[in-house]
Amino acid sequence: MTTYPGGPGPAALPGQRMTPEQLMHFYAGMIARALEQNRLRPIVVPLFDGPQLRAFAIHLEVGVPAERVEKIASAVALAAHSSSCRIARDHGKLLVEVPKAPEERRKLGAAAVERFKPPTSWHVALGLSVTGQPVWYDLDDPNIAHLAIGGTTGSGKTVALRWLLYRLAVQNSPAQLGFVMVDKKGHDLAPYFGKSAHLRHPIVSNPFDGARLLAWATGEMDRRLAANQREPKLVVVIEEIGDLLMVNGEVEGFLARIAQVGRAAGVHLVVTTQQPGARSLGDALTNFTARLLGRVATATKTFGAAGRAKTMADLLLGHGDFLLITAGAEIRLQAPLITGLQYGQIPRVERVPSLDDALPLVVRLADLQRDPRGRPGRELGEADYRAIEQALADGISVGALAARFGIGSERARRLHAAYWEQNGEEDDL
Ligand SMILES: Nc1ncnc2c1ncn2[C@@H]1O[C@H](COP(=O)(O)OP(=O)(O)OP(=O)(O)O)[C@@H](O)[C@H]1O
Ligand SMILES: [Mg+2]
Repeated sequence: MTTYPGGPGPAALPGQRMTPEQLMHFYAGMIARALEQNRLRPIVVPLFDGPQLRAFAIHLEVGVPAERVEKIASAVALAAHSSSCRIARDHGKLLVEVPKAPEERRKLGAAAVERFKPPTSWHVALGLSVTGQPVWYDLDDPNIAHLAIGGTTGSGKTVALRWLLYRLAVQNSPAQLGFVMVDKKGHDLAPYFGKSAHLRHPIVSNPFDGARLLAWATGEMDRRLAANQREPKLVVVIEEIGDLLMVNGEVEGFLARIAQVGRAAGVHLVVTTQQPGARSLGDALTNFTARLLGRVATATKTFGAAGRAKTMADLLLGHGDFLLITAGAEIRLQAPLITGLQYGQIPRVERVPSLDDALPLVVRLADLQRDPRGRPGRELGEADYRAIEQALADGISVGALAARFGIGSERARRLHAAYWEQNGEEDDL
């Protein structure tokens, strides 16, 4: 491989006649010259001509601090004909990632990722790293068992999520793997996975139903832990968890518990959010072992979004350009764009089964969140909740509800409100 200790210097400006490979060498030479101008003596190696960026390795002389290159990132970027570049540290060398001009960028097809054979059926290559290697997600790896996909709108979260679910679904039979899904928009997942044989319950879009599903998953996890059972694996998918957290104060607790102990019961979370740095999500996300972070709107938001400093996630390019952040590592990757045809390979069923009998009732979920100032009050059992729901369906008033079930007017008011929030919408249709 040609390297550039100082480089040959630009023989010609890059024009249409340079091959992609020549361009890589041309830019490596330019980067080396820019560093030399700043009294560094680097060796620059072209690494990978990626779909959206070009990556180079910089080897510095022993003893030269990396900060000297980081400080002149803008000069490095200009040398490579770009207005910005991201400089990352990687096993004793520096990586320079230079975005391509928008018209040069191309999509990464699924085939380019699928040619790497997963080591186990629980491995999915989320995309290609800046050196062209597959970046694995592994459900069995404690560092990555639960995944939060974050990033601003258009960063490629939904596309990445669909890719992950698609690969899991074609690599594992419904006997080995089950899905439950909350799809707020109702069109992000349902058209592709709505009839998947892996679904244990129809995809829900209402956040309240999502919270009930999550309550069920937490119960299922507890049951499995008690029975020492970890199969089949269950993946709980939530498109935009922000909305779910607003529904019910218990949701955060469910998420935290599954993130903490779910792996031992084969229960895994995969969620997306537009606001990975939002304070409201802070506690819910802290237990997630892995984050797949796409472009963040501004540099000031990157710390909260990444959960750590110096990721430069604001320099990500969107369209599936992600950082996979785990306890041990931080890897940039390009996710593929899957074509609609491929979803045809997912095993399908005519009728998705239902967990309706097993999901907690609306009023029971609402009751989990007791008024912190209120006294504990009367304990209600499953039969009470059923009776309360029936009474609410029959149109009972708050006062009558409190009197009949002996639960206090404040608690009755909350159950009444939750029930009608959930069931009132249909009247408006
Ligand atoms: N891996 C990819 N390769 C190429 N283009 C992509 C990729 N991922 C996303 N895109 C493009 O970006 C668009 C938006 O992607 P996506 O819907 O996944 O964004 P999002 O992060 O889910 O946004 P929102 O927060 O608004 O839901 C896609 O329609 C597609 O055109
Ligand atoms: Mg989306």
